[in-house]
Amino acid sequence: MKLVALSSSVVAGLAALMLAGPHSARAGEAGSPPIDSVEESADIDLLLSRMTLDEKIGQLVQRMGGRSKALNSRLGPEELERVRRGEVGSYLHVAGAEPLRELQRVAVEESRLGIPLLFSMDVVHGYRTIFPVPLAMAASWDPEAARRHARIAAREASAAGIHWTFAPMVDVARDPRWGRIVEGAGEDPYLGSRMAAAQVSGFQGNNLAAPDTVMAGTKHFGAYGAAEGGRDYAGADLGERALQEVYLPPFHAAVEAGAASFMTAFNALNGVPTTGNQALLRTMLREDWGWQGLLLSDWRAVEELQAHGVAGSRQDAAALALRAGVDMDMVSDIYADDLRRAIEADPALLPLLDEAVRRILAVKRDLGLFADPYAYHDARREAAVMLADSHRQAAREVAEQSIVLLQNENDVLPLARDAGRIALVGALADDALSQLGSWRAQGQEGDVVTLRAALEAAHPGVIYTTGVDTRSDDASGIAAAVAAARAADVIVVALGEDYDWSGEARSRSSLELPGRQRELFAALAATGKPLVVVLMGGRPLAIPEIAEKADAVLMTWLLGIEAGPAIVSALFGESNPGGKLPASFPRTTGQVPVNYDHLPSGRPADPDLSQDTARYMDQPITPLYAFGHGGSYTEFAYSPLRIDSVSMAAHGGSTTVSLDVTNTGNRAGDEVVQLYVRDPVASVSRPVMQLRGFQRVPLAPGETRRVSFTLRSDQFAFWSESGGWIVEPGVIEIMVGSASDDIRARGEIVIEGSAAGSIAPAAIATRTVLQ
Ligand code: BGC
Repeated sequence: MKLVALSSSVVAGLAALMLAGPHSARAGEAGSPPIDSVEESADIDLLLSRMTLDEKIGQLVQRMGGRSKALNSRLGPEELERVRRGEVGSYLHVAGAEPLRELQRVAVEESRLGIPLLFSMDVVHGYRTIFPVPLAMAASWDPEAARRHARIAAREASAAGIHWTFAPMVDVARDPRWGRIVEGAGEDPYLGSRMAAAQVSGFQGNNLAAPDTVMAGTKHFGAYGAAEGGRDYAGADLGERALQEVYLPPFHAAVEAGAASFMTAFNALNGVPTTGNQALLRTMLREDWGWQGLLLSDWRAVEELQAHGVAGSRQDAAALALRAGVDMDMVSDIYADDLRRAIEADPALLPLLDEAVRRILAVKRDLGLFADPYAYHDARREAAVMLADSHRQAAREVAEQSIVLLQNENDVLPLARDAGRIALVGALADDALSQLGSWRAQGQEGDVVTLRAALEAAHPGVIYTTGVDTRSDDASGIAAAVAAARAADVIVVALGEDYDWSGEARSRSSLELPGRQRELFAALAATGKPLVVVLMGGRPLAIPEIAEKADAVLMTWLLGIEAGPAIVSALFGESNPGGKLPASFPRTTGQVPVNYDHLPSGRPADPDLSQDTARYMDQPITPLYAFGHGGSYTEFAYSPLRIDSVSMAAHGGSTTVSLDVTNTGNRAGDEVVQLYVRDPVASVSRPVMQLRGFQRVPLAPGETRRVSFTLRSDQFAFWSESGGWIVEPGVIEIMVGSASDDIRARGEIVIEGSAAGSIAPAAIATRTVLQ
C-alpha cells in the first residue's frame, strides 16, 4: 500500500493517543505501539492499528447532515459530538465551503484520531449550473458533452466543500414506466457505458486529489433498472445473460474509467437483495472485476434487508451487508448501532471490517484529505465558480445538443423569423422549476430561462396561455388556448410531464400525457393551424395522437437552466436539432418493453395479421419512435461501407469499418452515425441488432467526413450457455445508419476460430476516428 503523508492533525491525534497511554479510556483497543516518524504514521495500516473497534465502525457510518432540500439542517451540537467521538465517516446532503470547513475542523482537530470526513451529495446533472437531465444528455449521443457537464458540476460542487457525488446513475432502463429512467442513459448498454465512463472521467478528472474534482459514486449496482413492472424498488428477475450483457456493462465501463465508489441498488436480484448479495458484490464486483473502490449502500438499504425478509434483526442485517462487501452504511445507522454486536457474535467479521475501513481511508487519502483536509473549503473559489458565464454557456450548448426532432411534417420547422403571431400554450412552457429536473442539487428556479421567457424575448408576437397543466383536472383553460391559437399564425404547445412525474418513486402505470393535456392537444389540432409540439419530461411517452396530428414534435426533456434559449434556437433554426433517442418511444403503455435489441423469435413479428407471429394484434410491430431516431433540418447521405479486412481472428483480431457521411442539405447540422452488429447464427440466440459504435458528426452544408470504427474480436463475445464470455466463429453482420430503424449501409465480417472473452462487449469502447 502506498504511503502518504497524513495531515499534521492526524499525527497530532495519534500523538495524543500515545500520551494517553494504554490505560486511558480512549486508548486504542489494538494497543498503542510508539510511532517512530511521520512517514511511518502515514501508513493506513498503521492508522488502522491505532483505531478502536468503535472508531473503525465510525468510519463506516454515513449520516445525513440534512435533507436533499434542507442541506446542513441536522448539523446540531449532538451531531458534532458524534464527530468528536469518531462515530462518523461521512455526511450526505451537506454543502457550503464555510459550514463544511467548520465541520471538518471538528473532525480533524477535535476527534481523537483526527480522521477527515467525506462530504457527499447527489450532484447528478449539475450543482448550481443545472444541465439537462441525464436521459436528455444521453440523447446528445456525445460523451464529450456528458464529460463536460460532469467536469463543471465537479468544479462547482468541490468549491462548495463536496468531495463525493452520487453520480453517474448508470442503470439501464427498458421500461419507461420506471420513473428513474430520467436519471440514466436509457435502454442501451453500449450508449450507457460510454456515458458512464465519460461522466466518471468528468467528475474525477485525472487526479482525485485535485481540489476541483469529486469522487464519482456510480449507482445503483447492479440491476436496479430492471425493476419488475417498472415499479421503483421492485425486484429484478433476470437470466444471467441479460444481467451480464445488458445491465452490468455500464458499471464495468465505470470501473474501467476508474470510478472510485459505487452504490448498491435497493432492489433484489433473483430474490437476493443487492445490499446483502455476496455473489454480486464481493465475488463479481470485487473479485472477478478486481475493483477496489468504496462500496456504499443506498439510503437505509442495509436496514431494508429486514423488510426484504433476509435478515431477522438489525444485527443480522449488519452482518449480511458487511459480508457482502458493503463498506459504508448510508443513513440507517445499523453499522453504527448494531455492527459491534454482530462482530462480537461472529469474530470472522473483524477482518471484513478492517477491509472496509481500509478502503474508506484509502479514498480519503486519494482525495487528498489527509494531506489537506481543508482543500475543498475556499469560500472565494466557491463564490467565483458558481454559475460562471462559461458554465451557463456550456449548459446552453449541451441543452441544444440534447434536443431530438421527433418529426417535422412539411418542414414546418424551423420557424421563420417573421413567423407572425405565435400562440404559446401549456403550463410547462412557463414552469422554471421543472427544467431543473428531479435532482437539482443547488440549482435555483430563478436561474432558469423558461421557454416562455426566451420566446417572448426572441419574438415580438407571442401570445401565451396556460391551457391546462400536467396535474389538475381543470380543463377550463382550453377555450382561451383555442382562442389564442385561432388568432395566431402558428401554435407552439408545450406538453408532457413536469419534473415530479419522473424520478425516484415516480413510476407510472400509464405513459400517456397526464392531466387534460390530450384534450388540449386535440382542441388545438382542430384549429387547423400549423402545430408544433414541444414535448417535455423525463421519460419516453406514448403519444400516438400527437405523432398523427402534430406538424412537428421536438423532444426537449427537462433541459436545465438554459432550456428556454436552447428550445427557441431550435425552433428558429439557429441551432439544428441533432439529438437521437436513447430509448424507444412506445405507441402504448402495453407495448413496453419495446427495446430495439430484442431477441429474434421463431416467428418474428410480421405486419400481416393473418400470420401467427410475435406481435400484438392491436398495434403495429414497431415502436412509435425507434431507438436512435432523431431528425434534422438538413439531410445526410451515407456511402457504402469499406471494411479493411473481412475476416478476423477470434483471439486478438480486429478490423476497421469506415464510411463517408455527407450533409446533402443547405443547413449545417450534426448527424449521429450509428453502428450496429448482429451475430445471425450462434450457439445461443443473439439480438437482432446491438449498438457497438457511434459518432456525432458536425457537417457544414455539402461537407463530407469519414468515420472509421475499429472493432475488436472480443466485442463479438456473448455470455455463453455455461457462463463466461465466448467468441464463436462465423459471420457477423454490420449495419450502419441514422437510427436503429434507418440502416443505410451493410456489410459482413467473418470471425475465424473461437476464443474466450473477458469483459462485456458493451463495456468496450469502439475506437472511432472522425476525419
Ligand atoms: C436514492 C439514491 C440517492 C440517495 C441519496 C436514495 O433514495 O436511491 O440515488 O443517491 O437517496 O440521496
